[in-house]
Amino acid sequence: MSLSPKYFYDDLGSALFEAITRLPEYYLTRVERDLLATYGREIAGALDGPLELVELGSGSAVKTRLLIDAILERQSSLTYHPIDISADAVTESSLALAAAYDRLRIVAYAGDYFPLLRDKRLVTHSRVLVLFLGSNIGNFEPSDARELLQLLAAARHPGDGLLIGYDLKKDPSILELAYNDPTGVTAAFNKNLLGRINRELGADFDLDAFRFRASWHDEHGAVESFLISERAQHVRIPIAGIGVDFAAGESIHTESSYKFSREEIVALAKSCGFAEKTAYTDAGGRYALSLLTVV
Ligand code: AVJ
Repeated sequence: MSLSPKYFYDDLGSALFEAITRLPEYYLTRVERDLLATYGREIAGALDGPLELVELGSGSAVKTRLLIDAILERQSSLTYHPIDISADAVTESSLALAAAYDRLRIVAYAGDYFPLLRDKRLVTHSRVLVLFLGSNIGNFEPSDARELLQLLAAARHPGDGLLIGYDLKKDPSILELAYNDPTGVTAAFNKNLLGRINRELGADFDLDAFRFRASWHDEHGAVESFLISERAQHVRIPIAGIGVDFAAGESIHTESSYKFSREEIVALAKSCGFAEKTAYTDAGGRYALSLLTVV
């Protein structure tokens, strides 16, 4: 059985994810923030402006401020389009940004990226830089990642940019530790999926009867996360009108976190209509940002 990771992000799930980003083992957010702090100005100047900013999976949009600052050094105003599955996250971050910047115009969207792009509901007026940060692409199955990049390329104009942040393939023990954190925050983040089904669908999942485990899958190129039923159990999900039986040891696949080499990202982007302009990576080669442009 599997559940889509997009359902992690209710209010509690978004807060638990923010906590994950502060874990010492979860280096992704910190390394990406350092890259944006170091190269933000260069990125802001790499496309012919003035720019408009679109962000897929904007979350708390804390890192985005580094780019907003860099762009506002070069132009008098900026329109920012944050898009996030969590309405709470998009509302809170938009209010905070609006209070912090008076030269920023915000057009926020709460929902799935695909319908927004497919129905061409994203309306922009100048050169666009799309941000797809946080190794967010890692949550998409390869065919979905491809479709998303194709939709983005089709929705944009030649010369528009896509800044994509992704976690680089590395020693599996480092990758696994980033998810099997000893504090147990990632386990709580995963169990919240079941808690959410209880809260919203009236289900009776016993969260204590599941244990969390993440492991590297070499052929898939992903860290795969599971909730494993510790015993045989029956769960009722009244609002969905179903019951589910779990055998002892049966698992629910909650998430795949795909990892990439730079070559893999460049090949994928190329086949979807982008060319790589520049790539930025940390000294440890843990994480990368690729700045791509629509050809
Ligand atoms: C937000 C999808 C990039 O896969 O690393 C963090 C989510 N899950 N810890 C990731 C997550 C468990 C995260 N992404």
